[in-house]
Amino acid sequence: MVGGSGIAESTIEEVTRYLKQGNPLSIGDGSGIIERLERRLEELLGIENVLTCSSGTAALHSAYLALDLPTGSEVIAPVTTFHASVTPALQCGLAPVLVDVDPDNGNISPAAVREAITDRTRCVVVTHNLGHPVELDEIAAICREHGLNLIEDCSHAYLSTYRGRPVGTVGDVAVWSMQAAKTLVAGEGGFLATKDRTLFERACLAGHYRGRSERITDPELRAFSDTGMGLKYRLHPLAAVIAWSEAAHLVERVERRQKLLSRLSARLEDIPGVRPPRVREDVGMGGWFSYRPTLVTSGDDATCYERTVKALQRAGVPAHRPSIGSLDSMPLFTRTPPLRHAEATWRPRLCGPFEGARAYEKDRLSVTVTAEDTVDRIEAYADAFADVLRERGGPAAGGGR
Ligand SMILES: Cc1ncc(COP(=O)(O)O)c(C=O)c1O
Repeated sequence: MVGGSGIAESTIEEVTRYLKQGNPLSIGDGSGIIERLERRLEELLGIENVLTCSSGTAALHSAYLALDLPTGSEVIAPVTTFHASVTPALQCGLAPVLVDVDPDNGNISPAAVREAITDRTRCVVVTHNLGHPVELDEIAAICREHGLNLIEDCSHAYLSTYRGRPVGTVGDVAVWSMQAAKTLVAGEGGFLATKDRTLFERACLAGHYRGRSERITDPELRAFSDTGMGLKYRLHPLAAVIAWSEAAHLVERVERRQKLLSRLSARLEDIPGVRPPRVREDVGMGGWFSYRPTLVTSGDDATCYERTVKALQRAGVPAHRPSIGSLDSMPLFTRTPPLRHAEATWRPRLCGPFEGARAYEKDRLSVTVTAEDTVDRIEAYADAFADVLRERGGPAAGGGR
């Protein structure tokens, strides 16, 4: 059974039990529910050395700090990602370099990465956009060739696979958010994973003073365990209970969502005027963070997209324009904030004109499909698409593409 916020009734019971038993509400040494959650995540996602944090952003900040890159180094990032994939780099005195993406799936373009590399480049951060894995083999090869670190932002990609391998196992560090909209929910929370114990220990020191940092093996780093690096990024134990309990349902929920969305794509494939999201054959979409087909609109009618969306909504389809734009339109990347520390370090570089991103965004639609949806409702959405687009007529009549 699922409660009003989309979480399982058993999770509500686990939280109540945790509180009634008088369990700790602050855990500094990574024990108890923190330890249990971290082991469960490792097992579930096929990753190693998980460090839970207070948010995905905190985990990303810890990852950049752990990489210990020279001040002023450039970090190449996809222009379509959520800002927090790369904004913590700004807080480490690093320079985000925004590059273009694949028009099919919004994932970083390996060719754009190659073009953007300079002698200051030290790192690439990729986001498996909406659950679709990036070209990991090619990106990893570029990183090896140029001696660059690789961060995988897997926040959208719970249980996604690339050529049979789980995402998050190729980069030096991988990061997941467990914020309330994600496939695995803590409410607010995140975690990182790395095969490299040195990176793990540095990430620990970044945001987990005392308990966890006292176990760091490198004596030169351990000397700072009383304070860590001055940040506090522990996960709240109640958030850990929620995530631990929800994680038990993850595989089943992801399978159910895949079934619903595969059916929706199969139906949309045959409807003129709409294109389902393209998924490459060698990837698994995991939890499909968001379902985004593309409308085919008439180039000479600027209102076509809006009119079609409104008609879909009237027909009962929960469709809307995706709410967050790409990073090249955001002030944080286009001008320096009027703050002294920013003036000293802010050096983002935009490798426009981002034709791939514009093509990716053009006439994209977000269709909300939740845990409460059924196959019948999915069929009804597809029928509504067919009716609305038939009545609209115009572009792509006679063929979905
Ligand atoms: C791709 C991506 N990276 C990072 C984050 C940041 O995670 P959090 O909100 O937990 O800080 C998000 C959150 O929306 C995200 O979508």
